[in-house]
Amino acid sequence: MTAPVLPRAVGSPLARVEAREKVTGEARYAYEHAPDRVAYCAPVGATVARGAIRGVDAGGALERAGVLHVIWAENAPRLADAGDGELALFQGRTVAYRGQIVAAVVAETLEGAREAARLVRVHYDEQPHDVLLREDHPKLYKPDVVNPSFPTDTEQGDPDAALASAETSLDATYRTPAFHNNPMEPHATVAAWEGGGLTVHDSNQGASSVQRTLSRLFELEPAQVRVISPHVGGGFGSKGTPRPTVVLAALAARVAERPVKVAATRQEMFVFVGYRTPTVQRLRLGADDAGRLQAIVHEVAEQTSTVREFAEQTAVATRVMYAAPNRRTAHRVAALDVPTPSWMRAPGECPGMYALESAMDELAHAVGLDPVELRIRNEPDAEPESGTPFSSRNLVACLREGAERFGWADRGPLPGARRDGRLKRGMGVAASTYPAYLSPARAAARAEAGGSYVVRIAASDIGTGARTVLGQIAADALEAPVEQVRMEIGDSAFPRAGVAGGSMGTASWGSAVVKACRALRDALAEHGGEVPAAGLEAGADTADDVKAREEYARHAFGAQFAAVRVDADSGEVRVERMLGVFAAGRIINPRTARSQLIGGMTMGISMALHEESVMDERFGDYVNHDLAQYHVASCADVEQIDAHWIEEHDDHLNPMGSKGIGEISIVGTAAAVANAVFNATGTRVRDLPIRLDKLLG
Ligand code: MOS
Repeated sequence: MTAPVLPRAVGSPLARVEAREKVTGEARYAYEHAPDRVAYCAPVGATVARGAIRGVDAGGALERAGVLHVIWAENAPRLADAGDGELALFQGRTVAYRGQIVAAVVAETLEGAREAARLVRVHYDEQPHDVLLREDHPKLYKPDVVNPSFPTDTEQGDPDAALASAETSLDATYRTPAFHNNPMEPHATVAAWEGGGLTVHDSNQGASSVQRTLSRLFELEPAQVRVISPHVGGGFGSKGTPRPTVVLAALAARVAERPVKVAATRQEMFVFVGYRTPTVQRLRLGADDAGRLQAIVHEVAEQTSTVREFAEQTAVATRVMYAAPNRRTAHRVAALDVPTPSWMRAPGECPGMYALESAMDELAHAVGLDPVELRIRNEPDAEPESGTPFSSRNLVACLREGAERFGWADRGPLPGARRDGRLKRGMGVAASTYPAYLSPARAAARAEAGGSYVVRIAASDIGTGARTVLGQIAADALEAPVEQVRMEIGDSAFPRAGVAGGSMGTASWGSAVVKACRALRDALAEHGGEVPAAGLEAGADTADDVKAREEYARHAFGAQFAAVRVDADSGEVRVERMLGVFAAGRIINPRTARSQLIGGMTMGISMALHEESVMDERFGDYVNHDLAQYHVASCADVEQIDAHWIEEHDDHLNPMGSKGIGEISIVGTAAAVANAVFNATGTRVRDLPIRLDKLLG
């Protein structure tokens, strides 16, 4: 592994380098590209949840002025198999879920395409559908692995016997609904074919990955596909893998022989771009009188589609959290007639830790221990299930620091005891964790004759500040002022890199950037420190470094504290204060880091109190298809929110010593709120979101 970077620019609260471009509207997002002769494509979604397409009557649509094509299974170009059924647009007549794209209209205008899409008549042979997840669903099966490649089940010791003989035990089932990611910028693509090659301006979390998928689907060399994505307005995982929208744009542009634009409408964001699976989670904990865990059992039921298996790793965080000699985790998945779930911020850890950290709170109450103390008492020496040493683990420090800063000592342990007129007040705590992954990446660094540097990598800035922090990292590796370094990212023509996902972007791209910048410095030294007139360039690839990493359990940890007030008459819950304290290695930019952390915490408040995709069993569809009906926390829902981090030095991570921060702050948040609601009211809500009716019932 490359030697650590000595921080100069790293650690300073730099503003986003493209901030001015963004606030002045100069930063162009995918859909804003307007090539000559551009046409517009609107999808037609299935109106049945299961069945087969008997035929398509496109007459009414094609009669409209400006309508160019109606595409469906009968006339669409053939695509190669890219291993994701959601992307096999128009390759068969099977309907796997309501809203699945079954046809599309290409027209001269956006309005014309949408209007004509309404006029396309699709005839179906409809079959009965099965769309509701239950813990006893007969279709539940054991997948080979859970995402991305964890064992489905684990077991150590004899958890059943340990539960039976434990002095205190808990058996509780928690439920989370489906959640839909809603970045401000929807999935959007402008696709154009030229000279047999394909260029897309696309909104995604990784240009290299979209390039690879499109080249497979259309049987092109990767170099024949260019994906350009300099600015992306959020993703939260929904843009982590290519979605049907990018394929639709490329396919329609091929049919139309013109550039084509596609953007998901807000309503379509609730259909075919992915969502978080609902979960049913049974947690059993057994402890001795001192609160030391003897057994942990975490069993999960969740859903996937019939199109593709997506098996969320919901119980995986339970394998790394607390010591206990007897333990079991298990995942079961049912393939229903629903859209395929996909990545959503902290997939696995987020819903799983809601259940585990709620159960820990219930156990603390049952054994009469402070919930902070219960967690400290069950702190493991090494990663509990693997026995692998942690590269660093500062959960206890986060809990202690958070308790101090938050005023945890003022919390009364007795639920429902702090009442102020109609208002009941309470506090809750929960732990958070997220793995510190590293993926291989390449980068190129170039010195220009005038003394400036350009660093290129196909990294992705989805609004997090990636471009800015990579510039800071590059500057320190080059030992140059940050103003002299320009980052060029978001283009598959740049050296290949992994996605902005799994909270591994900065760590992975930064490692390649450091390596390329060091190679450039060495090359410059060979030139006696002089930059040749033509400039000088060096490249790097971290594939071997990633493989050669020592065996450590690498995770970030954190502690979330929430104070709520609950209206005794209306059941309304307000989060009046929230504090997250995190241990995530070196923080590269405190300004963008804070923004990420409080953003994740806000999303966690939203999960606790507001968000819920409601399945209508009759039609087999989520009924709340827009932001009027799917409630997302707004500024008014967040009163005081703050994020802190502790100094953590970890030499086993990467040259920056950093862990990811994109996802950890949504982990544990919902449990902290639910635990605070219990402390305020004495009512334990075990199914999210915590709606008024559940508190008044
Ligand atoms: Mo994140 S859900 O890993 O993009």
